[in-house]
Amino acid sequence: MKLKNKVPMLISAAALSIGLFAMPSYADEAPYTVTNGNELDATSYKGFKLFRNWCARCHGTYGQGMVGPNLADSLKVISKEQFYDTVENGKSGSIGSMPAWKANPQVMENRDQLYAYLKARSDGAIGVEKPKKAK
Ligand code: HEC
Repeated sequence: MKLKNKVPMLISAAALSIGLFAMPSYADEAPYTVTNGNELDATSYKGFKLFRNWCARCHGTYGQGMVGPNLADSLKVISKEQFYDTVENGKSGSIGSMPAWKANPQVMENRDQLYAYLKARSDGAIGVEKPKKAK
């Protein structure tokens, strides 16, 4: 291949590697670890169980959405603080109404676990599938 054909390839390879390098620094802040496709660390696994207990009946078993919105999508948009605040105070909007959870200590004290699981879903680290607890 002539050099003049290689140059655009090199440029796109460089652009790609910048993209790849940008990802780990973002992933470093991830509050979860997923191994073997569906094995969650203890914190996010607890988050999944809590989610199943309290949230799944409206948001779907894996957060994929039902009468409540798809939270894997929501977490791409809302901040951690907004998540904490919405869970504490509830939300009424164009989709419907979610109760406040501030009187429920199990939910309130473990919002970080819920967030960890949903962030793993939102980042695509785990799909719409049953998670296991990593050994
Ligand atoms: C009774 C049904 C119901 C339950 C149970 C429920 N939600 Fe919701 N939730 C909703 C509805 C409906 C909305 C959308 C409100 C709107 O914006 O119209 C919502 C919105 C949200 C949002 C905001 C999404 C966004 O894009 O702004 C978050 C975050 C959320 N719920 C988290 C949770 C968590 C975590 C739990 C479990 C502790 C939970 N929800 C339980 C019905 C529910």
